[in-house]
Amino acid sequence: MNPRLEAALAIAKEAGQLTLEYFNKPGLQVEMKQDSSPVTLADTGSEALIRTRIGEQFPGDGMVGEEFGEQLGTSDYVWTIDPIDGTKSFIHGVPLYGVLIAVEDVAGPLIGVVHLPALGETVYAIRDGGAFWERADGDVVPAKVRTTTELTRMSLILTSGFEWATPTMREAFIRGDTMVRTWGDAYAWLLLATGRADAMIDHGIMEYDIAPLRVIIPEAGGAMTVWTPEGRDDLAAVVSTKGLHDTMLSRFKA
Ligand code: IPD
Repeated sequence: MNPRLEAALAIAKEAGQLTLEYFNKPGLQVEMKQDSSPVTLADTGSEALIRTRIGEQFPGDGMVGEEFGEQLGTSDYVWTIDPIDGTKSFIHGVPLYGVLIAVEDVAGPLIGVVHLPALGETVYAIRDGGAFWERADGDVVPAKVRTTTELTRMSLILTSGFEWATPTMREAFIRGDTMVRTWGDAYAWLLLATGRADAMIDHGIMEYDIAPLRVIIPEAGGAMTVWTPEGRDDLAAVVSTKGLHDTMLSRFKA
């Protein structure tokens, strides 16, 4: 296995274990960041641990993380870290949060890992090497996005609510011709990559919220579009089966 992929998997699991020490426990302190998003000791502890482990094993590599920003490196590799994707879920004791780690080299996205500590599932990929799903029972199988092509047969997941919905999206929700589920967070990405949902729309995200998907989704046979909505400085993303992607974009990209 590629040494950085092997390390990313081990580090994501170790950090995930650290988050579990805080998860669903009484007395968790929540602070608000400048951007009004919440942060806990589990977020900062997880990112500090991830950075320490990367530094120990790949001292020349750069790092960018949600909680501690950018650290320039001297090698061709940059790691992107989201120590807890789904902090709001985490705070509510909902087990759908994940530890996200990605590595980029000069040719672009190289490695992606999405680890769900509370569910014990992981999906990972390396460029041109395929995508894999490590299930809760420890079995590792190929991760494959579904092949759904019809909107009426699809399941759609949202994380950040209906305030983002375009008029066509609202119509689809009201008509009820799409099975819509919410509270996606990192789990939604895992569902998409492992053929358990057809499409996911997320808004108000940053690169670290989606960096691993830039490898996982194409390697698992899906399609992904990321854009900056007009008047905003954050990102939105649509991830779906290949067969649904153009329709998803025409209906749901604002
Ligand atoms: C959040 C998740 C969520 C998205 C939110 C993000 P965080 O990330 O990615 O899916 O809808 O907008 O803030 O802050 O918990 O890492």
